Amino acid sequence: MITVFGSINMDLIASVERLPLPGETVAGHAFTTAAGGKGANQALAARRAGAGVRMIGAVGNDGFAEPALALLKEAGADLGAVARSSLPTGTAHILVDDKGENVIAVVASANGTLTPADADAAIASMASGDILMLQLEVPAASVERALGQARVRGVTTVINIAPLTADAARLGRMADIVIANETEFERLAGKDDMTAEDRLSALKSLHAETRQTLIVTLGADGVIAIHEGQIHTAKGLKIEPVDTVGAGDTFCGYFAAGLDQKLDFQSALERAAVAGSLACLKHGAQPSIPLAEDVNRRMV
Ligand code: RIB
Repeated sequence: MITVFGSINMDLIASVERLPLPGETVAGHAFTTAAGGKGANQALAARRAGAGVRMIGAVGNDGFAEPALALLKEAGADLGAVARSSLPTGTAHILVDDKGENVIAVVASANGTLTPADADAAIASMASGDILMLQLEVPAASVERALGQARVRGVTTVINIAPLTADAARLGRMADIVIANETEFERLAGKDDMTAEDRLSALKSLHAETRQTLIVTLGADGVIAIHEGQIHTAKGLKIEPVDTVGAGDTFCGYFAAGLDQKLDFQSALERAAVAGSLACLKHGAQPSIPLAEDVNRRMV
């Protein structure tokens, strides 16, 4: 069973030919909404990968609450600990251009009401060997408490240090497994503008210091990781992306599910990389998360 302590959003998505410059207005050619939020996306990905999933989060009492939870509900995730806040459901305001590039502004709203006490309650029923997955779209103090309590109970923690916040490096150091993109990893390692060689040497030295498993997603170049002293790499599929929103979350959820399903580390990484690629082929975060059978079909 995987517990996800994180955000639940409604994504409000405008398709534009190109992203506007600061101060510029561009015409959009389509608008849609989709369930999103890094926490909810990762929970759905883990569920679609076949893992049992419990979601801890908060939505409002507004019209976005039910649609934001609909796909998780349909997939059979346990939503019993999703609180109703007097604040609105979190929203993400997303522009996607014709090349699949995006910009996103997230308004936390109800996600910002998750407290350290909620973290305590979430972890109280967890036991050694369970998996807790976190991201940085809910208050840092609550993520910190969750990580601390999980350590006391012997729960395995997986943190995706996204979006990049001032607390990313500090919280990242507290988890067993860290998943970061290139920029996020630079923050964790405390060095900017890394070459591939710099990244490899930073992975080795950070791992030697902390013994954490470190995973860096590299977009079209796949993923590099260090686990129990060994470097691992995995490639995604060669694709023409239409929308990369949610691809990183798909990777995280599939990877955590692989751990839960006792796949060996390399296999978990490879399946997650393929799932992340497939998530780039459809629009919207949650609608694009592939089913396990579609991922398995694309594994070589
Ligand atoms: O990682 C993608 C997610 O980031 C979107 O679904 C959006 O809600 C933002 O939180």
